[in-house]
Amino acid sequence: MAWDGRHLVDLDTLDRDDILGLIQRASVFRDRDEYIDKGGPLAGQVVGNLFLENSTRTRLSFVIASRRLGGGSLNLIGAFSSTSKGETLLDTARTVAAMGVHVLVIRCGEDGGPAAAAAALDIPVVNAGDGTSGHPTAGRLDAMALTRHLGGEDLDGRRIAIVGDVAHSRVARSNIQSLVTLGASVALVGPPELAPADMAADGIDVTEDLDGTLPGVDAVMMLRVQFERDASVGDNYADRYGLTTQRASLLPAHAPVMHPGPMNRGFEIDDDVADGPRSIVVEQVACGVAMRMAVLERLLS
Ligand code: CP
Repeated sequence: MAWDGRHLVDLDTLDRDDILGLIQRASVFRDRDEYIDKGGPLAGQVVGNLFLENSTRTRLSFVIASRRLGGGSLNLIGAFSSTSKGETLLDTARTVAAMGVHVLVIRCGEDGGPAAAAAALDIPVVNAGDGTSGHPTAGRLDAMALTRHLGGEDLDGRRIAIVGDVAHSRVARSNIQSLVTLGASVALVGPPELAPADMAADGIDVTEDLDGTLPGVDAVMMLRVQFERDASVGDNYADRYGLTTQRASLLPAHAPVMHPGPMNRGFEIDDDVADGPRSIVVEQVACGVAMRMAVLERLLS
């Protein structure tokens, strides 16, 4: 194991055994689907959620994960914080830590913000998404949803397509790291401005050809185009890269459709596919709670 269990801020902190260990523990939580509540491993501990960018899934799943383990949570949202008066991320993190929280979960627009906080604080820090850099728990929860859906100990020999705005996606970066670490190969699919050729590496290839890719993959993960990060696409983007029912039928029968959310319905994914029998989008959310329980337990017990 590579992980010392102190912080979870970088993508390459976890090796194969660390990721599989978290998936195994999170699967226990997912299968039990119960509140431990009183006397749980987080009894008497408080998770500080510092979210300077918007979030539904990540923030709420850390709140409920903490409660399910018997702990509490403190929530600070960017728009209602003194960052709106110019306070820096680091001063905000120090301030929340000084109130006695036991772990700080940080989402921010600054690449490297959680790592800087981890270096400055003496409590554990979790990266809940920083800029376009990383979102470590997202990559692990998607690997968990995939291994549970496809079966097998890991993802050895599997091939996963990640489609759309890879360039701006911290979720995609986190997924690429965990998928390759678990033995999968990855096809990044999109126009060159969103899936740049220089992202190709060992086990990772880049293509513009979605229809030619789908028949050869074990899962497809659709990504939102991040217009708020100045992503721009041509007029024919949805025609070329939107996952329609017809296009999804090119997938092998066993291959699920994934999306980390939030979804642009009717743009990168059609309603019938998002809500159809191949979709494991809702299961990804449920795995998110379980994975965050496993991470909090490891950091705090
Ligand atoms: N996928 C993801 O991080 O979702 P939220 O922005 O809702 O947390």
